[in-house]
Amino acid sequence: MNENRFLHRLVLITGTTSGIGAALTDLYLKKGARVIAVNRAGAVPAKQNLVAYQADVREGEQVHDLFDWLSKKALYPDLFILNAGIHRVDNGEIFAYRDFEDVMDTNLNAVLRFVAEGLALKREGRRTFVAVSSTSNILPNPHCLGYYISKLGLTKSFEVFREKHRSNGFEFKTLILGPIRTKMLGVGPMASPLQTFVRDAISVPAEEAAGAIVRFIESNKPVFNYTFKSHAVFHLARLVKTLIPKIYTGSLPTARK
Ligand SMILES: NC(=O)c1ccc[n+]([C@@H]2O[C@H](COP(=O)([O-])OP(=O)(O)OC[C@H]3O[C@@H](n4cnc5c(N)ncnc54)[C@H](OP(=O)(O)O)[C@@H]3O)[C@@H](O)[C@H]2O)c1
Repeated sequence: MNENRFLHRLVLITGTTSGIGAALTDLYLKKGARVIAVNRAGAVPAKQNLVAYQADVREGEQVHDLFDWLSKKALYPDLFILNAGIHRVDNGEIFAYRDFEDVMDTNLNAVLRFVAEGLALKREGRRTFVAVSSTSNILPNPHCLGYYISKLGLTKSFEVFREKHRSNGFEFKTLILGPIRTKMLGVGPMASPLQTFVRDAISVPAEEAAGAIVRFIESNKPVFNYTFKSHAVFHLARLVKTLIPKIYTGSLPTARK
């Protein structure tokens, strides 16, 4: 990869206080790009080439103000990494609509709003939008209905956008992530200790995932299945390596009855 290309990049990333968004922010800065970090906490440690912008992605007005501010400052991102997302158990004992709605607003509606505002930015040139989807859109968890539907909706919307904008310089890329070790990894109260144990064992650290994610974004591949396809053997090796000492010491967790 030609590293000089990053010097001309202005990257907007949502959800940068932790996990994948934080790791991608650090990596793009390290490569010399300028980053606009959108997060609801506002404060992020000051760094060269980093501008923090406080916004809750669920709030349409705040997102609209962000794009107004970008236009006024003549800051035109060429890459939008729409990463902010939440994971909730919304269909446990009862169906919790508020949680479902929150997940849909954050994971799907907000991303579509960013796409609409990003496409409307008045300027020439190429623009890339990246959706952060999940293997849950293929392997749904019945307790996390909103998460499944939002990630499926995201994947399908980006398929449609990709087809529609094929010839006009707008790129739509979809990352389909498997388990990555971040705050998001909580498998929820429904998970047995064994499930949690296996998931922790097969997850990769966010910093490691960030490298592969940036390589994908800079490639001309439209969709990237991170973990299940490209890392199946790696995960198996990690699982065996974690299991063997636990078997010897008898510290394997048992499934909840
Ligand atoms: N980790 C995984 O295994 C995995 C697997 C598949 C897909 N993904 C996807 O990857 C993305 C990043 O997840 P992660 O694992 O890095 O999770 P994370 O550590 O929980 O980070 C999520 C980020 O999104 C931000 N965010 C949430 N709601 C927001 C809102 N309304 N407005 C602005 N920012 C908001 C959070 O900020 P606050 O600190 O303010 O909450 C946080 O910075 C998500 O879209 C997730 O669905 C993750």
